[in-house]
Amino acid sequence: MLKSIYGTKDILPKDIGKWNHVETIVKNIFTAFNYKEIRTPLFEETALFSRSIGEETDIVSKEMYTFFDRSETSVTLRPEMTASVVRAFIEHSLATQFSLNKLFYIAPMFRQERPQAGRLRQFHQFGAEVLGSASPVLDAEIIILAFTILKSLGLKDITVKINSLGIASSRKTYLEVLKKYLEPHLNELSEESKKRFEKNILRIFDSKSENDILIMHDAPKLIDYLDEASKDEFETVQNILQKEHIPFVIDSSLVRGLDYYSKTTFEIVSGKVGAQSALCGGGRYDGLIELLGGAPNYGVGFAAGIERIILALQNEETALPEITPLDVYVVLLNKDLLNEYYLFANTLRKKHFKVEIDYLSRSVKAQMREANKLQAKYVALFGGEEFSENKIVIKNMTTSSQQVVPLEKAGEEILLSVGG
Ligand code: HAM
Repeated sequence: MLKSIYGTKDILPKDIGKWNHVETIVKNIFTAFNYKEIRTPLFEETALFSRSIGEETDIVSKEMYTFFDRSETSVTLRPEMTASVVRAFIEHSLATQFSLNKLFYIAPMFRQERPQAGRLRQFHQFGAEVLGSASPVLDAEIIILAFTILKSLGLKDITVKINSLGIASSRKTYLEVLKKYLEPHLNELSEESKKRFEKNILRIFDSKSENDILIMHDAPKLIDYLDEASKDEFETVQNILQKEHIPFVIDSSLVRGLDYYSKTTFEIVSGKVGAQSALCGGGRYDGLIELLGGAPNYGVGFAAGIERIILALQNEETALPEITPLDVYVVLLNKDLLNEYYLFANTLRKKHFKVEIDYLSRSVKAQMREANKLQAKYVALFGGEEFSENKIVIKNMTTSSQQVVPLEKAGEEILLSVGG
């Protein structure tokens, strides 16, 4: 039997209500903040990701789905959206149309990681990218947006962690200091961290090795080496968050797993999803547009993992919609009237009722059972004695009350009854 690829998941009809619920809230909140949706292709030239995310990162060095297409071009299934959005921004000269572009997306991403709870090979993110402003107000807005969405979904056990990585020059000074601190500990570090020491020293902060964590605990902090402008902007971000009543902690070891960040970075973690606790992450990436060939400009954004959010909601026992109930189930009492029955149901559908009928020639009893299973609010009994007078019986499934109404008035009667 053919099966889905390891680390990918079907989203079945029984679960789609949860996904629609998350997506509706996400879209409503982004719209309230005037963000516009952007969609980009699932795959891009490999160089886009390796250049943006960084050759030495786990994503680029180990996790990308990269292959040669039939014209020998190296293409990659997108592991994240920031690079693609920036590419589209440059390619379509979006900056000439609007000096500030506030964009959002809900889309699948691909990373060949070891699957576990909350970690898949095809997963879904919603996120936002704001291109065109250096204002720290937008750094705060991005965090506020992410927090507001997670709270609106009903999550309780979440923590916002923020940090500032400063600009490249202050980071360079810090990297020298960190190197000096780590040199005497080099032999004690895990093999992975030894490699990172040479290639991407900041990433040692991400190590899961207990001994590495102990060593990094006493390391000098990047935040103490920030340039004045980054320091001031970080203050502004904190100030706005405080005034918005967004609780946060400063985590100086929050370096993130992608190389494009500068200044503000943040993550929101859940206490309810085990090891893969980051529900979302993001920050400022001012050098990225220029790195990808655009005129120098500013960027800040975040992305959140939908599977992890749904897992966190389930583990917090927050009720999520399972199936959306039906408005009307139309039961056919007389099989000779099949065509009229079908056409009648469609008149209700045209009035925007959610309607189901029997397509399987079932007994009346079985049709009633189906109506209950689909949580129909009304059952319309079509084709009884009253049909000769062009009438139909409508039953309110909550109160069990019944009325006989003219066929062409059925929709109105249901609406009236709903109103009452
Ligand atoms: P990221 O931290 O790599 O950042 O991913 C963001 C979120 O995507 C994570 O916090 C997590 O919830 C989810 N995620 C990542 N990998 C997986 C996986 N294998 N399975 C399930 N969920 C996963 C980015 O992607 C950046 N583009 C965020 C950003 C936007 N920064 C600026 N703008």
